[in-house]
Amino acid sequence: MSSNKQRGHSMEADLLPTSSAQTPTPSSQLSSLQLTAATLTQVLCATMLVQVFVIINNAEFTFGNVDNTGFSLDKESKKVFNAHPVLMTVSFVLMTVGKLAFTLPFITNRLSRPKVKVVHGSSWLLALVSSSLALYAVFASHNVESQGYKANMYSLHSWVGIAVFAAMIGNFLIGSVAFGFQLVSPETRAKLMPFHKLFGNLIYYGWGVAMILGLLSRSWILSCGYSVTEADVNPVAHYNDLPETCRQMNGLGMEVLATIVLVSVASMKN
Ligand code: HEM
Repeated sequence: MSSNKQRGHSMEADLLPTSSAQTPTPSSQLSSLQLTAATLTQVLCATMLVQVFVIINNAEFTFGNVDNTGFSLDKESKKVFNAHPVLMTVSFVLMTVGKLAFTLPFITNRLSRPKVKVVHGSSWLLALVSSSLALYAVFASHNVESQGYKANMYSLHSWVGIAVFAAMIGNFLIGSVAFGFQLVSPETRAKLMPFHKLFGNLIYYGWGVAMILGLLSRSWILSCGYSVTEADVNPVAHYNDLPETCRQMNGLGMEVLATIVLVSVASMKN
């Protein structure tokens, strides 16, 4: 595996004016393990998108009400909550693209560094838009009379989620001002870059945690589980006793975890 500098990812390159960094960012120096991890990440991203649609189209997810499957952004619609997990999953996929923009071969082999930076910034911008709509959807599903009022911010999921979302706004603004539009001096950019990278990583991992906690919240609301009359010494044999929607949500949570592991391997440095 080559050093980060050889790959053209060096911090110095991020601090240069865009015109000084026109060379493509080759990814051929990634180890075969990292290339495999990057490929599997793309497969998992597609799988998560399919999985979340399968979940919100399963009537068990909507307490058995077939009319409430699918999703909507109309605050009066009973489907509005479902937009929350869908758009949060879309955000996670977009963040994955943003995080790996400097690593994924199909991006770096085709585009010059300034264009890769545009892909990186646009992915995070779209993730921000998508998650803002996702938050609108969940608050609408709790605060509109026709939905039946529900408490807000009662769960650990909601507090972790709002904290990570706030951090994302901050990191996006600093990244845009300092590195996107380069409105600060090179010295300030040099000081900010390690923090931008650190918070980018924390936000990405925190997002995964928030998603898993969100799936857990919904599993709790849906009372996921099954009854036993003797010691459950072989739970695998009984796994299908869990309602299908619960198994599907467990699957999505494990896919989030696997994506985080693979993304970490793909972006690993010497
Ligand atoms: C598949 C992913 C997700 C699922 C299944 C999910 C599920 C839920 C559920 C069931 C609620 C209402 C109950 C509660 O507050 O726990 C909720 C609320 C909330 N979620 Fe998520 N969520 C997901 C992803 C996320 C993510 C990634 C974030 C932010 C980073 C987030 C932020 C919030 C916030 C702030 C609330 C509170 C809204 C309120 O209290 O009205 N969620 N989510």
